[in-house]
Amino acid sequence: MNVNVMNVDYSTKIPNNVNLSEDRQVLKALEGWHPGYIDWWHDMGPEGFQQSLVYLRTAYSVDPRGWAKFDYVKMPDYRWGILLAPQEENRVVPFGEHFGEPAWQEVPGEYRAMLRRLIVIQGDTEPASVEQQRHLGKTAPSLYDMRNLFQVNVEEGRHLWAMVYLLQKYFGRDGREEADELLRRRSGDADSPRMLGAFNEKTPDWLSFFMFTYFTDRDGKMQLHSLAQSGFDPLSRTCRFMLTEEAHHMFVGETGVGRVVQRTCEAMREAGIDDPNEVARVRALGVIDLPTIQKKLNLHYSLSLDLFGSEVSTNAANAFNAGIKGRYHETQIEDDHRLQNSTYPVLKLVNGEIKRVDEPALTALNMRLRDDYTQDCAKGMLRWNKVISTAGIDYRLTLPNTAFHRAIGEFKDVHATPEGVLIDDAAWQKRKSDWLPSIADGDYVASLMQPVMDVGEFASWIAPPKVGIDNRPGDFEYVKIET
Ligand SMILES: [Fe+2]
Ligand SMILES: [Fe+2]
Repeated sequence: MNVNVMNVDYSTKIPNNVNLSEDRQVLKALEGWHPGYIDWWHDMGPEGFQQSLVYLRTAYSVDPRGWAKFDYVKMPDYRWGILLAPQEENRVVPFGEHFGEPAWQEVPGEYRAMLRRLIVIQGDTEPASVEQQRHLGKTAPSLYDMRNLFQVNVEEGRHLWAMVYLLQKYFGRDGREEADELLRRRSGDADSPRMLGAFNEKTPDWLSFFMFTYFTDRDGKMQLHSLAQSGFDPLSRTCRFMLTEEAHHMFVGETGVGRVVQRTCEAMREAGIDDPNEVARVRALGVIDLPTIQKKLNLHYSLSLDLFGSEVSTNAANAFNAGIKGRYHETQIEDDHRLQNSTYPVLKLVNGEIKRVDEPALTALNMRLRDDYTQDCAKGMLRWNKVISTAGIDYRLTLPNTAFHRAIGEFKDVHATPEGVLIDDAAWQKRKSDWLPSIADGDYVASLMQPVMDVGEFASWIAPPKVGIDNRPGDFEYVKIET
């Protein structure tokens, strides 16, 4: 492995390990895009705190054994860079019609449009989440949490840079146009929204933020994993490094929800409340009742399932055949990696019942990735439920049925309960506030969102973390707020 590729060049305006200083044309294009990005960051990035010193990690290397350093940085001065995982020697296309051929270092002409579309869709989600989260700094439950929010935000900004680099380097003029469009669309905008539904929703409070980083960033993880398999090597290398950063985002979600659950259980124990459904009594303690946590979970999980697209999809089949987008852990799967003759069981509506039906494996790739996602989601939930059972409370957080609250795919035109029982419209209207956060639930959670900015202090509704970031103590000043 080449040392220059491992370490990042910080001498240019745009830190990188892709030798930008000798790639004048791309450097010029990126430098031309940079001011618009900074404008976007000021307009749509975190509201306030832009002059605060935040204890952030910045990548200085792509060596998995040690790649980041922590220091106080003002967010607008964060060094957003272009970092690709090291090139693997003799890498081949690991699936599809070109299985076994050398991986492409340039865009194959016949797949240009498809590749550009996938890169643009991925790129669009990155700034979208920053826009969705921009108000949250003002109500952070601690400096620790505020720091984590800003870390996620600057890294989503870097992921935008990662996609913009690919567009500008490999797609010429239309790549540059797409890069500009990525700064023009806005989450939730009526005229020019972000491309995917979940990225136009609001993130109104910190419980939503934790659910978002747990469920929606995890969709991102699955998409990045399948693009990391790509036969287009620069895309694969880009996504592999992004996954390194992405792990922290899901850590923030998993531990965030876990700490909320923990605080609720502790408060219930102290007050001698056994029944988690005594919502008013639990809320009187200044914590978030478990049924409301379940409703938030139902919302974010179902919105995130929609991100996988239709269960049966020819686009997914084409991208796989082309060697552009593979399966989760493709190279570890033991089969022919072509899937011409295999099938996969897909959830479908058959005569008013939800059933698994075998479909050609190629067209069922979205379903397969979504199944892998569901399994991945279930893991962290075991830890949340452990906290509840250890506290001696009789309650379990569960993932709702796939058919629940869907806007895309096989179940978009029906209503189902979280248990997967199909119901009519009248029953849905009557019951939906039992399953999804109501306005009153939202108002209650919003009422708890009072900022806590004293060093080492935490809001009433969330437990402190077990360990700090970068092995720092609990009372470490993660953000030095300007006065
Ligand atoms: Fe990202
Ligand atoms: Fe992320």
